[in-house]
Amino acid sequence: MSANDHRHVIEVADPAALAATAAEHVLARTAANRGRVAICLTGGSSPKQLYQLLATESYRNRIPWHRVHWFIGDERFVPADDPLHNMAMARAAFLDRCAPPENIHPIPTATADPSDPDRSAALYERELQSFYGADTLDPARPLFDLVLMGVGPDGHTASLFPGYPALDENTRWVVGVPKANVAPFVPRVTLTLPTLASCREMLFEVAGTDKRAILTRLFAAENLPANRARSIGETVWLVDRAALPEKSGGQ
Ligand code: 6PG
Repeated sequence: MSANDHRHVIEVADPAALAATAAEHVLARTAANRGRVAICLTGGSSPKQLYQLLATESYRNRIPWHRVHWFIGDERFVPADDPLHNMAMARAAFLDRCAPPENIHPIPTATADPSDPDRSAALYERELQSFYGADTLDPARPLFDLVLMGVGPDGHTASLFPGYPALDENTRWVVGVPKANVAPFVPRVTLTLPTLASCREMLFEVAGTDKRAILTRLFAAENLPANRARSIGETVWLVDRAALPEKSGGQ
């Protein structure tokens, strides 16, 4: 279906089906790992329905909350009570009702100097490395079981924007991004491509006609951040019909 063969594209009918399919992937990844599970969440509006679904009884009862740890792939550099805060959205949608507080790992935006997202990035890098138990990623032992991702109108993913130096960062696990390329124009903190890649599965959620133009460019293999984000395991794109480019079978 797509020009890039690194991803498996799954077409779904609409945002509700997309959330339900994504929820099944969360369940499958938690079931596949009998030990400590690490899931890296994403921000933006696309994952909200999935997060709300995970808190409903039928899903909630099937997640071994005590052994699942929740991280975030990027954060807007605003206080945790700001409506723009990504982890705050995930907390309100499901985490605060379901997950043990010690299993929730937000990027610290309150404790760091507000003028320096790099300091916050360094703190989160340390937290990830301590959770992982090493400061070098081993391809045989992925950091995350599942990494959720979204796509922005300029082809960004996480807070990795086209042409930004953060895209080529190969050493640091997390970096500060002083200025965003698209709204909201607040500084960001983002995991880098090698860190996001260190997972058993990377799952993109893309829905709505607004996404069709950028998806057309991405499926044409344009060199954009979302095309450079791929798992060392499986990379899956869940796309609803409204977002699918015409030639890929969209309406
Ligand atoms: C953020 C994100 C970002 C997001 C995309 C898609 O903090 O903004 O993590 O990468 O996933 O911009 O956003 P929507 O889901 O709102 O379209």
